[in-house]
Amino acid sequence: MSEPLTLALPKGRLQERSQEFLADLGFTIEFEKRKLVATDASGRLRVMLVKNGDLPTYVHHGITGLGICGTDVIYESGYEFFTLNEMPFGSTRMCLAARDGFDPVSYTGRLRVATKFTRFARDYFQQRGIAAEVIKLGGSVELAPVLGLAPYIVDLVETGNTLRAHGLSVFEELAQINVVLIANPAYYKFHYRSIDSLVDKLRDGQNGAAQHD
Ligand code: PRP
Repeated sequence: MSEPLTLALPKGRLQERSQEFLADLGFTIEFEKRKLVATDASGRLRVMLVKNGDLPTYVHHGITGLGICGTDVIYESGYEFFTLNEMPFGSTRMCLAARDGFDPVSYTGRLRVATKFTRFARDYFQQRGIAAEVIKLGGSVELAPVLGLAPYIVDLVETGNTLRAHGLSVFEELAQINVVLIANPAYYKFHYRSIDSLVDKLRDGQNGAAQHD
């Protein structure tokens, strides 16, 4: 049998959904306790579990040939990949948010924004000619307006529960974020036959699931 394809999955919210999706297509992946590498039961996929924000780095350097992750982290990485498929789960919105009832008129000076997504935020405001001071945080960004670090945040909003819990609301939607399957371009060129057949399987699975909805 040929070598398994290598795939990185992000730890956290997308991991479970990615594994469920792959299991429905016959790729059952089980990580032994504390282990971050596993081969699926059919031996066709070798899967590495990596930190969400590091996933593009692993694929860029060819450590894994393929990866499933959000377009938000891909953009932040600045790397170029082949995008092979849009996954039918995990879509979110990148939003500008502020405290409920925040009055922008009372706020003078540059737009002060706290975010994990500094590249996205800088480019977004720069392209629109808006002067912005972007403050980088590693997570729990919703605390910034509550504690007074910045009146605005740029963050992902899925259910909106995190914003609501902190008395914040969406000020403006900036972009739709999707989850995609990416490939290292050189890896794709070398393994395109087996990768194309995997992508066909994913698409068939998606279409089948859509027909049952
Ligand atoms: C994301 C985002 C928000 C939350 C939004 O955080 O940064 O905090 O999810 O989801 P909701 O609208 O469904 O509440 P994530 O779980 O990726 O972790 P982190 O920001 O704390 O790193």
